[in-house]
Amino acid sequence: MYKIRTNSESETIQLGELLGKHAKKGMVFALKGDLAGGKTTITKGIGKGLGVKGVINSPTFTILKIYKGEEFDLYHIDAYRLENNDYDLGLDENMEDVLMVIEWPEYYSELPEERLEIEFTYIDDDTREIRFEAKGEKYEKLLEECGLC
Ligand SMILES: Nc1ncnc2c1ncn2[C@@H]1O[C@H](COP(=O)(O)OP(=O)(O)O)[C@@H](O)[C@H]1O
Ligand SMILES: [Mg+2]
Repeated sequence: MYKIRTNSESETIQLGELLGKHAKKGMVFALKGDLAGGKTTITKGIGKGLGVKGVINSPTFTILKIYKGEEFDLYHIDAYRLENNDYDLGLDENMEDVLMVIEWPEYYSELPEERLEIEFTYIDDDTREIRFEAKGEKYEKLLEECGLC
């Protein structure tokens, strides 16, 4: 487990960009924690790191948004509206070819065991604590490559 604090929105975006630059196709990032914690904000940075051109915003009303990266696509999922309805989106078929970033992973029934967990805690208006936990070897390696260990 690795913990860091960011003191502005742009610091969180930068952190996401670092992760996006080192992310590999087939990875899954599960973003947990407080509302307004920075989950969508870090995803903007992750997209930047992947070379996504468009603006990333909250997928709350659509569940899934797909963005074209330079080498592979970003699937940005907000599972909040799925709650505990046990929907099967069938996205596991696409999982190997993209990077999946999932907000509210506790509501996502197809969450793989191996993943990077990123948990956000609201400290004050501008400060967030962000905790990283690698579940699986390739995510440990990723955190090492990013210097987040
Ligand atoms: N250090 C920080 N990191 C991320 N967002 C921050 C930070 N400080 C303030 N903010 C603000 O908090 C909000 C985070 O919103 P968002 O990323 O949509 O959260 P979530 O998706 O977790 O609900 C934004 O309005 C952003 O400007
Ligand atoms: Mg969000």
